[in-house]
Amino acid sequence: MSTITTTITLVEKPITTIAVGEKPTTTLALEEKPISYDINLPYVRLPEDANKTTHYPEYLPTWDKIWFDPLQPFEFNDPALRVKDKSKSKLLTPQVKVSHIQPSIGSIVEGVQLSTLSNEAKDELALLVSERKVLAFPNQDLIDAGPSQQQQFMNYFGKPNYQPVSGTVKGHPGFHIIHRDGNKEEIAKFLEQKATTTLWHQDVSYEIQPPGYVMLGLLQGPEVGGDTVFAATDAAYKRLSPTLRSFLDNLSAVHSSSKMIAHVRLVGGLVRKDPVDTVHPLVRVHPVTGEKCLFINGEFTTKIQGLKEAETKVLLDFLLQHIIMGHDFQARVRWQPKTIVIFDNRSTLHSAIVDYIDEEHGAKPRHIFRLCAMAEKPIPAASPP
Ligand SMILES: [Fe+2]
Repeated sequence: MSTITTTITLVEKPITTIAVGEKPTTTLALEEKPISYDINLPYVRLPEDANKTTHYPEYLPTWDKIWFDPLQPFEFNDPALRVKDKSKSKLLTPQVKVSHIQPSIGSIVEGVQLSTLSNEAKDELALLVSERKVLAFPNQDLIDAGPSQQQQFMNYFGKPNYQPVSGTVKGHPGFHIIHRDGNKEEIAKFLEQKATTTLWHQDVSYEIQPPGYVMLGLLQGPEVGGDTVFAATDAAYKRLSPTLRSFLDNLSAVHSSSKMIAHVRLVGGLVRKDPVDTVHPLVRVHPVTGEKCLFINGEFTTKIQGLKEAETKVLLDFLLQHIIMGHDFQARVRWQPKTIVIFDNRSTLHSAIVDYIDEEHGAKPRHIFRLCAMAEKPIPAASPP
């Protein structure tokens, strides 16, 4: 494996320099409009009984009237590249137990509290995430440490992402709240049209510098079900023929948030940012492992540059099916109480599994927060002509 090194550093900006106030064209008639009936898109307002079922009311989604300008290019230095001790002795102390979920992807890490890690240990954590792609840390006290501590922890790994449409924690726009309660109607409506709730995607791939490290924190979940499944996109790339790989290496694809923004506008939700369309390489090089990774997903990838519509569809469908069918390079994370998952959004696709639906009562409450650390501009596999 080759390693790419960079010398640039992460530049942090306070939130207040990004939020420039509410854009006058934004419609805010939330009370009069229906909630979203697409289970994979965020709520535009909260179901009425959410307060009754949640254990963490301060993490129920809120919609601050705030406007975000486009993300500007920023300097990023991957913390994993700072690690000199590849045995990761600051993170993996003798009391830490690492159990692999699958041989090549996913690990459960026990015996460590993320809240106590030194900066060196955080660097090693970034390296371990890059290597294993998905890490699950059960029973974390960081779950109860509050939004400021959680955001501060993730700021070490990259610049915060400010969600354009989804509900956040009040005063903490870096939080994306995934909250699903017993809303039987919403799920039934969704399943009238769709055969499954599964939707494989990467988070926020439309941004110019999409998230690298992503944290998911389980506040509340069903006893069984609601797993999250991950697929390794470097392994998926390697399984393709050399002929197809070299063709893909030279392609670029458009990633767009337009559909998501349009949907939320249609149902009267709050939009905080204009749609973003970005052209990314279809195969990106991971800055830490040096591996080539397929960089497409079913949610935001809309076009392959230089191909006709039908050609784009056939190729995207094939690549997505290839990734989805590849159970030999996937891992499924089962959530234990107070689990924090940190995954590498550059080398994986993931999907929630909404299988915790009770026919009589609807879904059991599941409440998760997500924090993204924005990383490098995707590195193309092919060098520019
Ligand atoms: Fe996601």
